[in-house]
Amino acid sequence: MTGSFSYRRGILHAENAPLDEIARRFGTPLYVYAAGELRALYDRMAAALRGCPVLLCYALKANFNLAVVRILARAGAGADIVSEGEMRRALQAGVQPSAIIFSGVGKRKEELALALKMGIAQINVESEEELAALIEIAQASGIRAPVALRVNPNVAAGGHEKIATGREGDKFGLPLEKIPEIYRAAAKEPSLAMQGLAVHIGSQILDAAPFREAFGKLAGLAKALRQEGLPVARLDLGGGFAYGQDLERAALSLEDYADLVRQVWRETELPLILEPGRALTASAGILLASVLYQKTAPSGERILVVDAAMNDFLRPALYGASHAVLAVREEAKSAAAAPAAPCQIVGPVCESGDRFASAAPLPPMAAGDLIALMDAGAYGAVMASSYNGRPRLAEIIVSDSRIWLARARESRREMLERDPLPPWLLDERAPSSARRSP
Ligand code: LLP
Repeated sequence: MTGSFSYRRGILHAENAPLDEIARRFGTPLYVYAAGELRALYDRMAAALRGCPVLLCYALKANFNLAVVRILARAGAGADIVSEGEMRRALQAGVQPSAIIFSGVGKRKEELALALKMGIAQINVESEEELAALIEIAQASGIRAPVALRVNPNVAAGGHEKIATGREGDKFGLPLEKIPEIYRAAAKEPSLAMQGLAVHIGSQILDAAPFREAFGKLAGLAKALRQEGLPVARLDLGGGFAYGQDLERAALSLEDYADLVRQVWRETELPLILEPGRALTASAGILLASVLYQKTAPSGERILVVDAAMNDFLRPALYGASHAVLAVREEAKSAAAAPAAPCQIVGPVCESGDRFASAAPLPPMAAGDLIALMDAGAYGAVMASSYNGRPRLAEIIVSDSRIWLARARESRREMLERDPLPPWLLDERAPSSARRSP
């Protein structure tokens, strides 16, 4: 539990706002973010890197809620975006185009053109075809394209196979060996303004070794390019740092990570960019849900069915991620109450994978009681869907005791209006058993 989510008078609070009140006002399930925690996460990372010229470009993919992005932008963050949608959100939240990096393996040509028009600081190019497309667009628009080449350093890293991005066979980046040749040619192209190199090897990386290896390769490459007299203005070291939530695994401290970053600066004397996503938002958010039913498996195991499901928070189902679960009402934890017994926490979706925890130590609970899934501020709401006909959930931001609906729950009406029926089906009535019977 972080400082921003703590028990006061027996109730879990987000800053000074009681979560039971938020649930009463807005219904569950919903996400709750703590503004102060977002600022604290940014400030901690900036402080750890003090003295090193580095721009923290927040990776919007972790959480693109406008209030969240604005808080980080005000704290001093730039943005790392992967689509026009994220670009518009970053700009709307107040991030200057000169602090925005455009990443992604499949940027559309319209998106590249828009990035040039908007004056986005750097486009991280991931293939030779993308580079050719960008040259054409830059020539047509008369705007020089600021380019960094994304290097695939062939380093395995990441908390899960599905989020490792730096291995040779992964779809990301250009092979390290090909970079000098491509860079040389690109530097001669008048419609391009070469900015440097970028790397991103994966997410939820909990040890130093893969960062050290990838950063070392990038720094070596940058030095070689500069020795040839090629222009290299900066290096983008990507994201991937995570606070270790899983105590079993040796967690890389923020200070040790910052040292690895600083080492690149010492070695190259180039200004740096980082693209942190999870590290700036994960612990600033929780998913709040209500217990619907309780049942007991034949083994005697307690199963709590809650009103949040995998469509609301996909990480446990998709990556086997484990997130701590807390009871919002603490009283049951007191000595008088029955001891906490592990229980399964499952959602209503018709898949066995729709399970948030297999053995959460929770006190006795009843229908209507609230639980909080911790560290859900990154890759939570942004990955929500309406699977099983469930509306996309609401997002609340709290600052001290102020509570704000930062994204409304999708309405039933909105969900239906998105499926207009074709005219040829409009006057047909659904067959009813009554009409079919003679
Ligand atoms: N930069 C690039 C180019 C990225 O692809 C990513 C994440 C980041 C930065 C930010 O990485 P972070 O600092 O958040 O680790 N949905 C998955 C995570 C996918 C990460 C994709 N790329 C999850 O829930 O674990």
